[in-house]
Amino acid sequence: MPHTTTQTKMQSRTAAALKGKITVPGDKSISHRALIIASQVIGKTEISGLLEGDDVINTAKALRAMGVQIERTSPQHWVVQGVGVGGLAESSDILDMGNSGTGARLMMGLVAPYNFSTFFTGDESLRKRPMQRVIQPLSDMNVRFTARENNRLPLVVHGTLDTLPITYTLPVASAQIKSAILLAALNTAGITTVIEKEATRDHTERMLRHFGWQVETKTLPDGSIAISLEGRQSIPAIDRELLVPADPSSAAFVVVAALIVPDSDVIITNVAMNPLRTGLYDTLLEMGANITFQNRHIHCGEEVADIHVRYSHLKGVCVPAKRAPSMIDEYPILSIAASFAEGITTMNGLAELRVKESDRLAAIEAGLKENGVIAKASGDTLTIEGTKKPKGGGLVTTHFDHRIAMSFLVMGMASEQPVHIDDGTAITTSFPAFSEMMNSLGAAIAIDAVHNPLLSPAHPLVIAIDGPAASGKGTLARRIAEHLGYPYLDTGSIYRAVGLKIIYSNSNPYDKRAACEAALSITEQDLSNPRLRQEKIALAASIISAVPEVRSILLNFQRNFAKNSKGAVLDGRDIGTVVYPDADVKIFITADLETRAKRRHREVQGENIEVVYESVLNDLRERDERDASRSVAPLIPADDAFVIDTSHLNANEVFMKVLDIIRSKIKAKNS
Ligand code: S3P
Repeated sequence: MPHTTTQTKMQSRTAAALKGKITVPGDKSISHRALIIASQVIGKTEISGLLEGDDVINTAKALRAMGVQIERTSPQHWVVQGVGVGGLAESSDILDMGNSGTGARLMMGLVAPYNFSTFFTGDESLRKRPMQRVIQPLSDMNVRFTARENNRLPLVVHGTLDTLPITYTLPVASAQIKSAILLAALNTAGITTVIEKEATRDHTERMLRHFGWQVETKTLPDGSIAISLEGRQSIPAIDRELLVPADPSSAAFVVVAALIVPDSDVIITNVAMNPLRTGLYDTLLEMGANITFQNRHIHCGEEVADIHVRYSHLKGVCVPAKRAPSMIDEYPILSIAASFAEGITTMNGLAELRVKESDRLAAIEAGLKENGVIAKASGDTLTIEGTKKPKGGGLVTTHFDHRIAMSFLVMGMASEQPVHIDDGTAITTSFPAFSEMMNSLGAAIAIDAVHNPLLSPAHPLVIAIDGPAASGKGTLARRIAEHLGYPYLDTGSIYRAVGLKIIYSNSNPYDKRAACEAALSITEQDLSNPRLRQEKIALAASIISAVPEVRSILLNFQRNFAKNSKGAVLDGRDIGTVVYPDADVKIFITADLETRAKRRHREVQGENIEVVYESVLNDLRERDERDASRSVAPLIPADDAFVIDTSHLNANEVFMKVLDIIRSKIKAKNS
C-alpha cells in the first residue's frame, strides 16, 4: 500500500567515476539528542551541523509544542533555549513523530516524569513499530500508558512526578530503549541503571556528559555494561556550543557507491566515527575495501574523521551477529556492496531489521532478487551471492523506507541496467539532498519527470545568476540548468559574439555604429562559435559591452530567450537587475579577487596556456573596475538577490546551496 498519495518514482543508471570531496548531512542520532538534551539545561545552546531531515524537524516541533524555544538561525544552525529538567509544559496537541522511531521513543522517555499526559502518533510506518520495548521499562518506573492494540502508536504517556529509579537489563540491544530510560531518569530521584549485554551506540551518555551530567559506565564481570545516572543533578546554567558531526550511516551510501563504481575516488569530511557506529566500515575493510580514515579527532565528546574511499575489488565475508548493533542501519547498503563482491556474504543476527522503518530483511531480499541477485533471508540471517556486476533493471518496493530507497539507487550506479525504486520521498527523513549530492559526484539519479516538481514545476522559473569574472557563475548556471532540464543562456557569449563579428570584419570595437549593427545581426548560431573563447574576443566584448546602445539592442535577444515558458537559467552581470528584474530566483555569486584569480589561473594552466598569475590578477582587477563603474548596468547584486560568497566553498557546496534556494522557491510557487 502506498505510504503517501504522491509517490516519487526514481531511477539510477550507470554513474561516471565518482570524484570529489563532500560533506554529508549531520548525524541523525546525535541531532535528535542535541535538541532534546539542549532542552534539558538552563541556558542557550547553539547547535551547528544539525541534520535538517524530516525526522529531526519533528523532534524540534515536539519540543516546541512543550514550550521549548528552538530557532533556526541559518542553514544547519539552530539555537535551543533550554528549559531545564522538569521545565517542559504540557503539549496542547498530539505530538506527531513522523517516520522516526528514535524521535518517538526518546521523547516518550523524556515526558514520562511529568505531571501531565502526552499523546504521540506517527506515520503509517511508525504506527506499525513496536513500542512495548519502551512501555515496559517506563511502566516499571511507575508511568502508565494507553496504547493501541499490540502497544502501537497512537499512544498516551500518562506521566507522573513520582517516577521510580530502576535497574533494567535491555531485552534487545537498542540504544533507543536505553536512551528513553536515561532521559526519564533525568527527572527521577535516585539512581537509574541500564544494563546492556551488547554495547549499543552511546551518544546519549556522551552528550549528557558533554553538557555536565555525571553518567557512570562500567563493565560487569559477565562482560555486560551498566550505565547509571542519578536523577535531578544540578547542571551549570551556561550558554553552550555544539557541533554535530556528519552521519556515518549517510556517508555509508557514498562509500559503497565509490567502492562499486570503477575509478571512483571520494573524500567525505568530518564523519562521526563513534566505535559503536562503525561496524560497516570494519566489514568493508574485511571485504578488501580501499578506505582510509584521516584527520581523526574528538569533537564535543564524539570521535570524528575524514573518510577517503576508492573503487575496490570486494570479496564476500561472514558478518558476525555481535557486530549488528554497531551497523544496524547499514545492512541495506552492505547488501549492495555484497552483491558486487566476489563470493558469498552471510550476515547474522539481523532480527531487529524486521522492526525498522520497514521489514528491512524482507525488503532487501525482494529488492536484490528483483535485480537478478541471488539472496536468501532465513530466520535472522541474510545470504547474498555476489556477482561483480548485478543485472539490475528491477523496480524495487521501498515501503517508505529511506535506507532501502538510497541503497537501491546506489545499486543502479554500477549494475548492468538502471535500477528503479517505487518511491523516493522517504529519503528526506535522513538525507534530503541525497540525489543532488550523488549526482554532483558523478551519479545519474533521476526523478520520474511526471512526479518531479523540480523537473516539471507547475510554474517554471526564470533563474538569474550574476557575478564578476571568474566567480564560477557559468559552471554553476550550466549545472543548474542541466539538473532542472531548463534551457540555458550564457549572456556573456552574446557580447563575445558581437566582439567576434567586429574583429573578423576588421572593424574597430570603439566604433559604436559598427557595434550596433553587429549586435542587431546576432543569432543563436553565433553563440556556439569556438572562437568566442579567444582572449582578443574577450577584450573586444568588454569594450562593446560598455556601450549603452549595444546593451539595449541585446536586451530583446535575452528577454526572448525565456519567453517559451519552459523556464530558463541565464548567467551574466545584469540579469537580475536589468534583463529580468522579475526573475523568480536571483543569485549573485562572488568571491574575493585573489580566489578568483587563482581559479582562473588554474583553469588557464589546465588548458596548457602559459600565463603568470600576476597578469591574471591584474586583468581581473581591471575588468572588475570597468564592470563596476560603467554607466550602464554596473555590476551590482539586485536588492532581492541571494549573494553567495564562494571564496571558502567548493563548486559542489555552491551548487547544493543554490538548489536549496530554488527548491524553496518552487515550493512557495507551487503551494
Ligand atoms: C538509533 C538507534 C538504532 C537505529 C536508529 C537510531 C538511535 O535503533 O536503528 O536508526 O538514535 O538511538 P535501536 O536502538 O532501536 O536499534
